[in-house]
This record gives sequence, structure tokens and C-alpha cells, in this order.
Amino acid sequence: MKNILRELESRRSEACLGGGQRRIDAQHKKGKLTARERIEVLLDEDSFEEFDMFKAHRCVDFGMDKVKIPGDGVVTGWGTINGRQVYVFSQDFTVLGGSLSETHAEKICKIMDMAMKAGAPVIGLNDSGGARIQEGVASLGGYADVFQKNILASGVVPQISVIMGPCAGGAVYSPAMTDFIYMVRDSSYMFVTGPDVVKTVTNEIVSAEELGGAKTHTTKSSVADGAFDNDIETLTEVRRLFDFLPLNNRAGVPVRPFFDDNARLEPSLDTLVPESPNQPYDMRELVKKIADEGDFLEMQAAFAGNILTGFIRLEGASVGVVANQPLVLAGCLDIDASRKAARFVRFCDAFDIPILTLVDVPGFLPGTAQEYGGVIKHGAKLLFAYGEATVPKVTVITRKAYGGAYDVMASKHLRGDFNYAWPTAQIAVMGAKGAVEILYRQDLGDADKIAAHTAEYEGRFANPFVAAEKGFIDDVIMPHATRKRVARAFASLRGKRMENPWKKHDNIPL
Ligand code: HXC
Repeated sequence: MKNILRELESRRSEACLGGGQRRIDAQHKKGKLTARERIEVLLDEDSFEEFDMFKAHRCVDFGMDKVKIPGDGVVTGWGTINGRQVYVFSQDFTVLGGSLSETHAEKICKIMDMAMKAGAPVIGLNDSGGARIQEGVASLGGYADVFQKNILASGVVPQISVIMGPCAGGAVYSPAMTDFIYMVRDSSYMFVTGPDVVKTVTNEIVSAEELGGAKTHTTKSSVADGAFDNDIETLTEVRRLFDFLPLNNRAGVPVRPFFDDNARLEPSLDTLVPESPNQPYDMRELVKKIADEGDFLEMQAAFAGNILTGFIRLEGASVGVVANQPLVLAGCLDIDASRKAARFVRFCDAFDIPILTLVDVPGFLPGTAQEYGGVIKHGAKLLFAYGEATVPKVTVITRKAYGGAYDVMASKHLRGDFNYAWPTAQIAVMGAKGAVEILYRQDLGDADKIAAHTAEYEGRFANPFVAAEKGFIDDVIMPHATRKRVARAFASLRGKRMENPWKKHDNIPL
């Protein structure tokens, strides 16, 4: 009996060594943790239950019949993060470069099936040289099997991808179909074709970091949602994100004990909006002053800064926030901002996370670059996302809400539940200057007349009361009471039930 127990221990130790000490040392030398160390940082202590530790590949080509490594380059199983269940896979670069074989894919698919059954999120830690070259099409089939699982799980359980090493070729498409991607600075990259192919095909000379590093994907492509300095910081941030997310699309948002006053008043908000309508201010300040304990987890913070997206808690419950940011491009909506916010709104709606929208938007950004780039279709994404969303929607207009952008930003007309405005709000087709130039073209040479027309227009429209008279604004609220009013609004909406008409699926303008 003892021998049998000893054999189990020895098989386990062998599996835990992955590709061996030499390769583990090499991994550490690059500043990276191993697959198992990463799981230890990600999950609660002693919570990890592993599956398929002894699973081995079945390939016999290219001498692979002599290479048997238990686990086959990926560690899979489940555990908890702050007590809440999560399924995890962690690719082991020390085993054949973390390359994906048929059996490696089977292991990932198995835990994804289990996650779907249990209604728990999936976190994938990616560190892989891609398709296992020795296995050829079997490996490609394995990728496609994982892709199919990603697609079916989308909108059912949250999926988070963490890129902690290479991720190239078709392998990038699994993370791309998950809800959030975090990357590690200087040690991870993602691209469809690497620098050598790029050079051959387009003559461009570019490094792997420039082509697909964390900076590129968080500032230029918006493929990734966040980037952090090292493995430990990244995994700690994944834990923080996880804490905001529901376990699945029926579970409802997590509610934590909170240590803040629901009715906290913030007198400083009464002077947040500057006197001059052209002067910017930081919308982040408002988000933080509304949030429990001032905690705002921003997503895609380095991309399309003219709109903020992220999570806060109100009375301990997660809320998604979308907010125009007057500090960047005066808070205009453009292609990037519309795409960024639309995807975020759809994520929140899919997982029943209520949405708070803070509005200060002078309109859509004009110009040929925007029109040629398809701002019509991209702007429509945000409009569509808000219009189809059935979760509780609370909107606060702080200053400008002009033109089509007024409609788009979770207006009453798109089934906004509570639409509030500050007394400083200006809800109109456009700003006074633009309106007067169109309406009184004949007076453009006469400064006095133009000033009079502008004053008249501002008196009539540069306020929230015309919209309030029509019932488009439910109440004009004092800025200092925003947290209290918003928290009460969401509290009153906890029982909200709303369904869209039956359809196979919609046809959002992709
Ligand atoms: C099998 C692989 C491998 C792979 C790496 N290894 N990639 N084994 N299949 N795809 C092995 C190496 O032989 C080596 O084994 C170990 O992993 C570490 O690799 P190194 O090259 O020594 O490491 P490093 O210098 O850090 O370079 C990492 C790398 C490089 C950049 C990932 O290994 C590389 O370019 N690999 C090939 C990448 C690739 O072309 N993959 C296929 C892409 S196409 P030893 O025994 O020496 O430790 C694809 C299609 C997916 O993935 C399609 C989905 C639809």
C-alpha cells in the first residue's frame, strides 16, 4: 500500500516539474513565473483542484513517442478567488514551449465544459508557442475546438484571458473572443503574423514588442484591456477584476460588505463644472466621488480617453460605468470611443450588470478621417448597445448633451430608467455658437446681433429644463447629492425585469 502511495507522490512530483528544472530556471530568468506559480498567485491559498495532471499526448511523429510529459503543457482545474469559484487553465512554457496539442486542447475544453455546467467564469493564462508543430492538423483542430467553446461560453460565463508570453498566429483568436484581455508588459505579445512575416510581405521592420506588445494593444489596437508590469501585478489585477464580475449570466452581480455612506454628499461637485463651457474637467473625479470608497476599476484606460469605461460598486454591488471625458477631445464621441463603450455596455448587459452613464458630450467628432473610417456604423454600435440593453440604466447629464450623441448616451428614449441632469446641463441639438451661425447666417457680420442671438439661444436651451418639461429628464439634481440619488435609483431598480422581442439574434452593425 505504502508503495502505491509513494508512486502517486512521485508521479505528482514529476508532473509538477513540467519541462524540468533547467527550463523552469530559464522561465524565472526571463522574469516570468511558471504555470503553477501563476495559479498559486491567482487563486486563494490551497483552493486549487487540478484535473488531468497525468494526461499525455498521443502523437508518435517526429520522435514524439519518446517524449512523454504528464499534463502535456497545460495545468487545468478550478479554485476560488476570494471564495468564489473559477475555472483556470495555465499554459506551461517549459513543456514544448506551451505549444497546443490535441490533448492540451482537450484539457482546456474539459474545464470550459465544467465551467459552463457549474456556472463559473474561466480564466486562461496564455504562454505558448502556438500549434504543436509535430502534431500538424490535430493541433489546429484542437484550437478550433477551443474557439467553439469560447463562442458558446460567451455571454454565459465571464471569460478572462491573461497573456503572459507569446501568443501568435491563430492562437490569438481564443483570447480575442473572451471578455477581457490583460497583458504583461515586456514579456507578452500577440499578433496574427510575426515580425519576420511582416518584413517579407510588407517590407516593414518592426520588433515583436512594437508589433504586438502590451503597449501596442492597450493604446493602439485596443485588443487588450489592461497592461501591468509583471506576472504578480497582473494576476493581482485579475483578482480585482474578478471580484466585480458575476459568476454567470443568471447569478446577478456580487454584493460585498461596504464601508461607505450611501447618502454621502460631495459639496466639491457643485463646482466641478467650470464656468466656461469650453473648459474641461476630469470626469474621473465624479466617477470616484459616486463610487463606494472611491474605488473605480477602469477598463481600456489607455485607449480612447474621450470615454471612460469601468466598474464601481454602489451599496456593495457592481455597476458598470460609461462616462464622456471632457479632458480628451472635449469628450466627443468618435470611432474608437464608440467601439470601446459599445463592447463594454454589451458585456454589462449580457451579465446583468447595471449601467451608470455620465454625460458631457458635444457630439460626434467631425472630419473625413471619421467619416471614411465608418463613424456612422461604429457610432451605431453604441446606440444599438444602449438601446438593446435591458439592465437597469441610470444616466446623469452634467453639462453638454448635444445632437445625436444626446440620444446615444443612454437617453430616456433608449429606455433609460432614471435620467437625471445637473442644473449645469445643456441639452440641445448643438451648442449656441454653431446654432446661431446656422440660424442667423445673415447677421454674421454684426457682432452685437450675434451676441444677442447667442444669449437668447443660451437662455432658451443651455439648461436642462426644456428636456425636463418634456419628461426626458426625470429630475434636475444637485451635483453634491449625485451619489445618493444614483444609489437610490439603482436600489429601486433591483427588481427590474425587461425582455426584448424574441429573435434568433440581433444584427448589431459590426
Ligand atoms: C512544438 C515548440 C513550439 C511549437 C516552441 N517549441 N514552439 N514545440 N511546437 N509550436 C519548443 C521549442 O522547440 C523549445 O523546445 C521550447 O519550446 C522553447 O522554445 P524556444 O524557441 O527555445 O523559446 P524562445 O526562444 O523563448 O522562443 C519562443 C517562440 C519560438 C518565439 C515561441 O519557440 C517560436 O517561434 N516557436 C514557433 C512558433 C510558431 O511558429 N508556432 C506555430 C504558429 S502557427 P526545447 O525542447 O528546446 O525546450 C499557430 C497556428 C494556430 O499557432 C492556428 C490556430 C487556428
